[in-house]
Amino acid sequence: MDKTSKIFEGSALVGSGSCLPTQSLTNEQISHRVETSDSWIKSRTGIGTRRVVGENESLTTLSSNAAKAAIEMAGWSPKTIDLIVLATSTPDDLFGSAPQVQAQIGSKNAVAFDLTAACSGFLFALITAAQFLRNGTMKRAVVIGADQLSSWVDWDDRRTCVLFGDGAGAIALEATEHEKNGILGFELKSDGSRGECLRLSKTKNHLTLVDGSTYQKGEFQPIAMNGQEVYKFAVREVPAILQKLLDKENTSPADLDWLLLHQANQRILDSVAERFSIPHSKVLSNLKNYGNTSAATIPVMLDEAIRDSRIKPGNLIATSGFGAGLSWGAALIKWQGPT
Ligand code: UT7
Repeated sequence: MDKTSKIFEGSALVGSGSCLPTQSLTNEQISHRVETSDSWIKSRTGIGTRRVVGENESLTTLSSNAAKAAIEMAGWSPKTIDLIVLATSTPDDLFGSAPQVQAQIGSKNAVAFDLTAACSGFLFALITAAQFLRNGTMKRAVVIGADQLSSWVDWDDRRTCVLFGDGAGAIALEATEHEKNGILGFELKSDGSRGECLRLSKTKNHLTLVDGSTYQKGEFQPIAMNGQEVYKFAVREVPAILQKLLDKENTSPADLDWLLLHQANQRILDSVAERFSIPHSKVLSNLKNYGNTSAATIPVMLDEAIRDSRIKPGNLIATSGFGAGLSWGAALIKWQGPT
């Protein structure tokens, strides 16, 4: 292997950022719309409040602000970025919102595209971006996880509307030599045969185009979820994929500094942590403040814990995302920080 290819054997996490909408919506406020209570929501999910995109904000602006913060922490000039991957299921534009993010952050040399894998989206995007860095074609990537599910929940369905919130988080990822590699291993899975239990699907809406021809008008139905099925899926598959990853990487749960799961429900976090005997103090959670922000939960949590110095350079983190598709995955990552 020549010297040039050697420097691209790994990818390092060197910056983080996040941006949440300014508008808060508490459990108590939701109880003015549907029959629910703060105590039911807190005891069943751990969620206390969430943020909702209001006027003068959008998925694109949240994503751009999160990306800018990550780039600033990394100490990069925006023009040096080669790749922007925006993981979202709720773009402002179905043709893709990543190019608008590219324009807003001034990364004119970056190729930018959206990636959809629901709540697993950030993890899938991180691994996708890492492949470009590891094969030597690119040096600097920004990976964003952002969602605005408030636009797509049925605010009159108490079984789903209490769970979700909006937000965006980002990571700056840099090609690096093998010794500084920050993505030590990963496992990704999909199972469309179980996809029915969590959908945001197109409305079957056939309209007449001209005599003898119809077309399907583009409209989506609100989120439909079988909560108990998704819960069972999460508590079964997340430990299984984490165990597979830890075995493959010859790592024991005791070696981990942090467990960072997709923030869907505190009971899911507690159940997975218990399965691996990981103490509560090592389980990152901000569910009480933001609820389930879909693709944003992992990078928002990462950024929060990096900025308040809970996560320190060199810390080993097991992370797992799971959700609609069905899709799920796990990665063993190391935070390096700005170089
Ligand atoms: O990113 C992945 C996204 N999704 C998830 O992670 C969801 C995973 N699932 C869950 O987190 C849980 O299944 C929920 C939090 C959604 C629901 O908790 P649960 O303990 O599974 O409740 P349940 O669906 O069994 O409902 C229990 C009761 C029902 O009443 P009855 O039939 O026993 O009289 C529901 O109607 O709670 C009722 N209920 C509520 N009550 C007050 C359901 N939602 C609410 C609510 N407020 N918001």
